[in-house]
Amino acid sequence: MRRTADSPEAGPPVSPWWQDAVFYQVYVRSFADSDGDGVGDLEGIRSRLGYLELLGVDALWLTPFFRSPMADHGYDVADPRDVDPLFGDLAAFDRLVADTHNHGMKITIDLVPNHTSDQHPWFQEALRTGPGSRERERYHFRDGLGPDGSAPPNNWTSVFGGPAWTRVRDGQWYLHLFAPQQPDLHWEHADVRADLVRTLRFWLDRGVDGFRIDVAHGMAKPPGLPDMDPRAVTVMAGSTSPDFVDLRFDNDEVHDIHRLIRKVLDDYPGTMAVGEIWVDEEERFAAYVRPDELHLGFNFKLVEAEFDADSVRRAIDRSLAAVESTGAPATWTLSNHDVVRHVTRYGGGELGTRRARAMALVELALPGVTYIYNGEELGLPNVDLPDWALQDPTWERSGHTQRGRDGCRVPLPWEGEIPSYGFSRAGAAWLPMPPQWGSLTVEKQLEDPESMLSLYRHALEIRKTAQGFGGAELEWYGAPPGCFAFRRKGGGLICALNTSAASVPLPPGEILLSSGPMDGNQLPPETSVWLV
Ligand code: NOJ
Repeated sequence: MRRTADSPEAGPPVSPWWQDAVFYQVYVRSFADSDGDGVGDLEGIRSRLGYLELLGVDALWLTPFFRSPMADHGYDVADPRDVDPLFGDLAAFDRLVADTHNHGMKITIDLVPNHTSDQHPWFQEALRTGPGSRERERYHFRDGLGPDGSAPPNNWTSVFGGPAWTRVRDGQWYLHLFAPQQPDLHWEHADVRADLVRTLRFWLDRGVDGFRIDVAHGMAKPPGLPDMDPRAVTVMAGSTSPDFVDLRFDNDEVHDIHRLIRKVLDDYPGTMAVGEIWVDEEERFAAYVRPDELHLGFNFKLVEAEFDADSVRRAIDRSLAAVESTGAPATWTLSNHDVVRHVTRYGGGELGTRRARAMALVELALPGVTYIYNGEELGLPNVDLPDWALQDPTWERSGHTQRGRDGCRVPLPWEGEIPSYGFSRAGAAWLPMPPQWGSLTVEKQLEDPESMLSLYRHALEIRKTAQGFGGAELEWYGAPPGCFAFRRKGGGLICALNTSAASVPLPPGEILLSSGPMDGNQLPPETSVWLV
């Protein structure tokens, strides 16, 4: 057991608990349903804490469970300081915090500062009070262009497709970088800042250990809201375009907001914040994790990398370079609730699964913080859902050209042979679960030493107990084409990956764990290995 700032004993200074933690992202709607309505909830999570402890993760990140009309499944918050009845209530939240801690894990929650729901009382007041009212100043209301104001105030587009402006009855327009039900807040308004502080303290006082900040590169908007370069396509679930500046995001004034958040967290020792930062350039990214801003930043370079040794190595090098000057640990993510699950990205079926196993060991060998997205430990693929089942606003907003993110949000299969596999007492879950998932349930995989779940459990246990994982730096070895090998400089663990079509010799060392069977003493294609 490593010493952390939470368990001080006499001796040299200790690292904060999150420095090399493995977080588990719980997509609350899809994890476990306790009340039989087909939607996951807080009591459902509590009933499965034993599983998460067995898996061996250090901390949870819960996606939004706040009061919301659910236009973007909770990322449209109507009251940031209450639990939506769909997910439980504050008492259920308090029980979950206490029990998570009793199981030896930390609990972190989402914070959505860029926008509110259109049902938030502030937005409703702004609509009621009309143009020029002080209530409108908390959002970005503007007159339209053209003689009758019928054109939007600028050319900005919404990340979910279509214009980023919606016109209200009195003729003014309001800005929403996401769905129209998610109006962007005006961060220069004192009320907006004060309310964020209140929200942070509200949950910190209830015992949370930290926050994941939604759209942490958003919030601040450039003065005058000038037109954007239409070639700039910073999106949250795809690629960014480093060649064109996207005026909608990553404006310098955003850093003041992160300093404000940090000041509050500093009053609660041991707490942390990680930002969702879709910013490609290393230097711009690094600014978010300066010592007086966020503790961690999600980068999505591994998500964007192909299953190819060079591509993965570049992603690793760039992620390490981005935080090198800051002292913040790197973070690693293969999947989340906004992107196609990596088993599918890597080719699907057996091939995709083999590659996902290989990448799990690469990710867990890297220095810093890992985020596991619920279900990746079961090797769940993305699901091709029928049109009628699609709920992501992207589907409607794109005029049915982009299917959106529902395919990676299908609920988890726990046990049994038929949907909903113990997810819910209800036969039907909020998204239909495939009839072939009986072989992917937690129950099945716990019994099978070769399962994806067993691989994750084993890897997490080794990561926690074995020597070898120390230090923040890597050393790359020479490797055959299509392969790489690195060594953790501080600890000595070696990780080798083969993405080529032929088996290759192993680096020297004793094998601790491999993602698949060895080819004699060679490393086969689509396989990775840990050695000491
Ligand atoms: C990023 C979240 O991860 C995504 O799910 C959400 O739709 C947008 N932010 C808007 O809040």
